[in-house]
Amino acid sequence: MGKDVIIACDFDSAEKCLAFLDKFEGKKPFVKIGMELFYGAGPDIVRQIKERGHKIFLDLKLCDIPNTVKKSMAVLSRLDVDMTNLHAFGTIPMMEAAIEGLTRPDGTRPILIAVTQLTSTDEAHMKSDLLINEPIDKVVMHYAQNAKVAGLDGVVCSPLEAGKVHDACGNGFLTVTPGVRFSDGDVGDQKRITTPEGAKALGSDYIVVGRPITAAEDPVAAYERCVKEFVG
Ligand code: C5P
Repeated sequence: MGKDVIIACDFDSAEKCLAFLDKFEGKKPFVKIGMELFYGAGPDIVRQIKERGHKIFLDLKLCDIPNTVKKSMAVLSRLDVDMTNLHAFGTIPMMEAAIEGLTRPDGTRPILIAVTQLTSTDEAHMKSDLLINEPIDKVVMHYAQNAKVAGLDGVVCSPLEAGKVHDACGNGFLTVTPGVRFSDGDVGDQKRITTPEGAKALGSDYIVVGRPITAAEDPVAAYERCVKEFVG
Protein backbone atom coordinates (compact mmCIF):
# COMPACT_ATOMS: atom_id res chain seq x y z
CA MET A 1 0.00 0.00 0.00
CA GLY A 2 1.60 3.21 -1.17
CA LYS A 3 1.73 6.53 0.64
CA ASP A 4 -0.96 8.93 -0.54
CA VAL A 5 -2.59 12.28 0.12
CA ILE A 6 -6.34 12.12 0.89
CA ILE A 7 -8.33 15.33 0.37
CA ALA A 8 -11.00 15.92 3.06
CA CYS A 9 -14.00 17.05 0.98
CA ASP A 10 -15.83 18.80 3.81
CA PHE A 11 -18.64 20.36 1.74
CA ASP A 12 -22.36 20.42 2.58
CA SER A 13 -23.69 19.59 -0.88
CA ALA A 14 -22.92 17.41 -3.89
CA GLU A 15 -22.79 20.48 -6.16
CA LYS A 16 -20.04 22.15 -4.13
CA CYS A 17 -18.02 18.96 -3.91
CA LEU A 18 -18.29 18.10 -7.60
CA ALA A 19 -17.46 21.69 -8.62
CA PHE A 20 -14.35 21.41 -6.46
CA LEU A 21 -13.32 18.08 -8.03
CA ASP A 22 -13.95 19.48 -11.55
CA LYS A 23 -10.91 21.70 -11.02
CA PHE A 24 -8.66 18.62 -10.99
CA GLU A 25 -9.48 17.78 -14.65
CA GLY A 26 -7.48 14.62 -15.51
CA LYS A 27 -6.23 14.02 -11.95
CA LYS A 28 -8.00 11.62 -9.61
CA PRO A 29 -7.02 12.39 -6.02
CA PHE A 30 -8.03 10.04 -3.17
CA VAL A 31 -10.93 11.83 -1.40
CA LYS A 32 -12.44 11.63 2.07
CA ILE A 33 -16.22 11.90 2.39
CA GLY A 34 -17.23 12.70 5.95
CA MET A 35 -20.52 12.97 7.79
CA GLU A 36 -21.31 16.50 6.54
CA LEU A 37 -21.22 15.57 2.84
CA PHE A 38 -22.70 12.08 3.32
CA TYR A 39 -25.66 13.35 5.35
CA GLY A 40 -26.08 16.37 3.07
CA ALA A 41 -25.85 14.60 -0.27
CA GLY A 42 -26.70 10.96 0.52
CA PRO A 43 -25.00 7.76 -0.70
CA ASP A 44 -25.31 8.86 -4.34
CA ILE A 45 -22.37 11.21 -3.86
CA VAL A 46 -20.19 8.16 -3.14
CA ARG A 47 -21.34 6.50 -6.39
CA GLN A 48 -20.82 9.70 -8.39
CA ILE A 49 -17.30 10.30 -7.13
CA LYS A 50 -16.42 6.62 -7.57
CA GLU A 51 -17.70 6.75 -11.18
CA ARG A 52 -15.32 9.64 -11.81
CA GLY A 53 -12.48 7.29 -10.89
CA HIS A 54 -11.47 8.52 -7.42
CA LYS A 55 -10.59 6.33 -4.46
CA ILE A 56 -12.85 7.06 -1.47
CA PHE A 57 -12.29 7.05 2.28
CA LEU A 58 -15.79 7.10 3.81
CA ASP A 59 -15.29 8.65 7.24
CA LEU A 60 -18.52 7.86 9.15
CA LYS A 61 -16.92 6.62 12.42
CA LEU A 62 -19.42 3.85 13.20
CA CYS A 63 -20.06 2.92 16.85
CA ASP A 64 -23.09 0.79 17.80
CA ILE A 65 -23.97 -2.76 18.82
CA PRO A 66 -22.03 -5.37 16.80
CA ASN A 67 -25.05 -6.56 14.77
CA THR A 68 -25.94 -3.03 13.64
CA VAL A 69 -22.34 -2.23 12.75
CA LYS A 70 -21.98 -5.51 10.82
CA LYS A 71 -25.10 -4.84 8.72
CA SER A 72 -24.17 -1.20 8.13
CA MET A 73 -20.67 -2.17 7.05
CA ALA A 74 -22.18 -4.64 4.55
CA VAL A 75 -24.08 -1.73 2.98
CA LEU A 76 -20.92 0.40 2.85
CA SER A 77 -18.90 -2.40 1.19
CA ARG A 78 -21.57 -2.55 -1.56
CA LEU A 79 -21.00 1.18 -2.11
CA ASP A 80 -17.51 0.09 -3.18
CA VAL A 81 -15.55 2.50 -0.98
CA ASP A 82 -11.79 1.92 -0.62
CA MET A 83 -11.46 2.78 3.06
CA THR A 84 -13.85 3.32 5.97
CA ASN A 85 -13.71 3.57 9.76
CA LEU A 86 -15.26 3.02 13.18
CA HIS A 87 -14.62 3.93 16.83
CA ALA A 88 -12.29 1.51 18.65
CA PHE A 89 -14.31 2.54 21.72
CA GLY A 90 -16.97 0.08 20.46
CA THR A 91 -14.65 -2.75 21.67
CA ILE A 92 -13.15 -5.81 19.97
CA PRO A 93 -16.44 -7.72 19.37
CA MET A 94 -17.85 -4.70 17.52
CA MET A 95 -14.69 -4.36 15.41
CA GLU A 96 -14.77 -8.10 14.55
CA ALA A 97 -18.41 -7.81 13.52
CA ALA A 98 -17.49 -4.82 11.35
CA ILE A 99 -14.89 -6.88 9.45
CA GLU A 100 -17.42 -9.66 8.91
CA GLY A 101 -19.97 -7.22 7.51
CA LEU A 102 -17.45 -5.41 5.35
CA THR A 103 -16.02 -8.55 3.71
CA ARG A 104 -17.55 -9.14 0.25
CA PRO A 105 -18.59 -12.60 -0.98
CA ASP A 106 -15.31 -12.78 -2.98
CA GLY A 107 -13.27 -12.25 0.21
CA THR A 108 -12.14 -8.69 -0.61
CA ARG A 109 -13.02 -5.71 1.57
CA PRO A 110 -12.28 -1.99 1.92
CA ILE A 111 -9.44 -0.96 4.25
CA LEU A 112 -10.89 -0.62 7.78
CA ILE A 113 -9.29 1.72 10.29
CA ALA A 114 -10.21 2.76 13.82
CA VAL A 115 -10.51 6.11 15.52
CA THR A 116 -8.79 5.76 18.90
CA GLN A 117 -9.43 8.81 21.09
CA LEU A 118 -10.74 11.79 19.15
CA THR A 119 -8.03 14.45 19.15
CA SER A 120 -10.64 16.88 20.50
CA THR A 121 -10.82 14.84 23.75
CA ASP A 122 -8.24 15.78 26.38
CA GLU A 123 -7.10 13.88 29.45
CA ALA A 124 -9.16 16.09 31.81
CA HIS A 125 -12.42 15.21 30.03
CA MET A 126 -11.44 11.54 29.78
CA LYS A 127 -11.17 11.55 33.58
CA SER A 128 -14.20 13.67 34.42
CA ASP A 129 -16.65 12.57 31.71
CA LEU A 130 -15.57 9.02 30.88
CA LEU A 131 -13.94 7.96 34.21
CA ILE A 132 -10.82 6.89 32.25
CA ASN A 133 -7.87 7.53 34.55
CA GLU A 134 -5.00 6.22 32.39
CA PRO A 135 -2.78 8.68 30.46
CA ILE A 136 -4.19 9.48 27.02
CA ASP A 137 -1.12 8.07 25.17
CA LYS A 138 -1.58 4.73 26.90
CA VAL A 139 -5.28 4.68 26.00
CA VAL A 140 -4.54 5.53 22.33
CA MET A 141 -1.94 2.73 22.04
CA HIS A 142 -4.21 0.24 23.82
CA TYR A 143 -7.11 1.03 21.45
CA ALA A 144 -4.72 0.70 18.47
CA GLN A 145 -3.63 -2.73 19.72
CA ASN A 146 -7.28 -3.76 20.18
CA ALA A 147 -7.95 -2.73 16.57
CA LYS A 148 -5.04 -4.89 15.44
CA VAL A 149 -6.26 -7.87 17.51
CA ALA A 150 -9.71 -7.49 15.90
CA GLY A 151 -8.07 -7.67 12.45
CA LEU A 152 -8.31 -4.02 11.38
CA ASP A 153 -5.76 -2.47 9.06
CA GLY A 154 -4.79 0.65 11.01
CA VAL A 155 -5.87 3.75 12.89
CA VAL A 156 -6.56 7.42 12.41
CA CYS A 157 -4.07 9.32 14.55
CA SER A 158 -1.91 12.41 14.76
CA PRO A 159 1.28 12.23 12.66
CA LEU A 160 3.04 12.78 16.00
CA GLU A 161 1.70 9.39 17.16
CA ALA A 162 2.46 7.47 13.94
CA GLY A 163 5.88 6.20 15.11
CA LYS A 164 4.53 4.93 18.44
CA VAL A 165 1.62 3.18 16.71
CA HIS A 166 4.06 1.46 14.33
CA ASP A 167 6.26 0.44 17.30
CA ALA A 168 3.24 -1.04 19.11
CA CYS A 169 1.41 -2.61 16.16
CA GLY A 170 4.04 -3.10 13.43
CA ASN A 171 5.03 -1.10 10.36
CA GLY A 172 2.35 -2.73 8.22
CA PHE A 173 -0.38 -1.30 10.48
CA LEU A 174 -1.58 1.84 8.72
CA THR A 175 -1.50 5.33 10.21
CA VAL A 176 -3.91 7.74 8.54
CA THR A 177 -3.16 11.19 9.82
CA PRO A 178 -5.03 14.53 9.74
CA GLY A 179 -3.58 17.67 11.32
CA VAL A 180 -1.35 18.58 8.37
CA ARG A 181 -0.47 22.16 7.44
CA PHE A 182 2.01 23.82 5.08
CA SER A 183 4.93 25.51 6.87
CA ASP A 184 3.74 28.89 5.52
CA GLY A 185 -0.03 28.26 5.84
CA ASP A 186 -2.93 28.92 8.25
CA VAL A 187 -3.17 26.56 11.21
CA GLY A 188 -6.95 27.09 11.73
CA ASP A 189 -8.41 25.07 14.64
CA GLN A 190 -5.88 22.20 14.43
CA LYS A 191 -3.57 22.09 17.43
CA ARG A 192 -0.95 19.37 17.03
CA ILE A 193 0.15 19.82 13.44
CA THR A 194 2.97 18.85 11.10
CA THR A 195 3.87 19.66 7.51
CA PRO A 196 3.46 17.02 4.76
CA GLU A 197 7.27 16.53 4.85
CA GLY A 198 7.15 16.19 8.64
CA ALA A 199 4.37 13.59 8.41
CA LYS A 200 6.49 11.65 5.90
CA ALA A 201 9.50 11.72 8.24
CA LEU A 202 7.30 10.58 11.15
CA GLY A 203 6.12 7.54 9.15
CA SER A 204 2.48 8.42 8.31
CA ASP A 205 1.06 6.14 5.63
CA TYR A 206 -1.70 8.50 4.44
CA ILE A 207 -2.20 12.18 5.23
CA VAL A 208 -5.71 13.66 5.30
CA VAL A 209 -5.65 17.30 4.21
CA GLY A 210 -8.72 19.53 4.10
CA ARG A 211 -8.64 23.31 4.21
CA PRO A 212 -5.00 23.77 3.08
CA ILE A 213 -6.27 22.36 -0.25
CA THR A 214 -10.04 23.09 -0.32
CA ALA A 215 -9.64 26.73 0.76
CA ALA A 216 -6.51 27.43 -1.32
CA GLU A 217 -6.63 29.96 -4.14
CA ASP A 218 -5.31 27.22 -6.42
CA PRO A 219 -6.45 23.88 -4.92
CA VAL A 220 -4.76 21.80 -7.63
CA ALA A 221 -1.39 23.47 -6.98
CA ALA A 222 -1.87 23.01 -3.21
CA TYR A 223 -2.68 19.31 -3.74
CA GLU A 224 0.37 18.85 -5.97
CA ARG A 225 2.56 20.55 -3.39
CA CYS A 226 1.24 18.14 -0.73
CA VAL A 227 1.94 15.11 -2.93
CA LYS A 228 5.44 16.39 -3.75
CA GLU A 229 6.29 17.00 -0.08
CA PHE A 230 4.67 13.80 1.27
CA VAL A 231 5.16 11.21 -1.46
CA GLY A 232 8.26 12.76 -3.03
O1 C5P B 1 -9.30 21.07 7.10
P1 C5P B 1 -8.43 20.09 7.83
O2 C5P B 1 -7.14 19.77 7.12
O3 C5P B 1 -8.23 20.45 9.29
O4 C5P B 1 -9.30 18.75 7.77
C1 C5P B 1 -8.93 17.58 8.47
C2 C5P B 1 -9.98 16.53 8.28
O5 C5P B 1 -9.66 15.42 9.10
C3 C5P B 1 -11.39 16.95 8.68
O6 C5P B 1 -12.31 16.27 7.81
C4 C5P B 1 -11.52 16.45 10.10
O7 C5P B 1 -12.86 16.15 10.45
C5 C5P B 1 -10.68 15.18 10.05
N1 C5P B 1 -10.14 14.75 11.34
C6 C5P B 1 -9.31 15.54 12.10
N2 C5P B 1 -8.81 15.09 13.30
C7 C5P B 1 -9.15 13.88 13.74
C8 C5P B 1 -9.99 13.06 12.99
C9 C5P B 1 -10.48 13.53 11.78
O8 C5P B 1 -8.98 16.65 11.70
N3 C5P B 1 -8.64 13.44 14.87
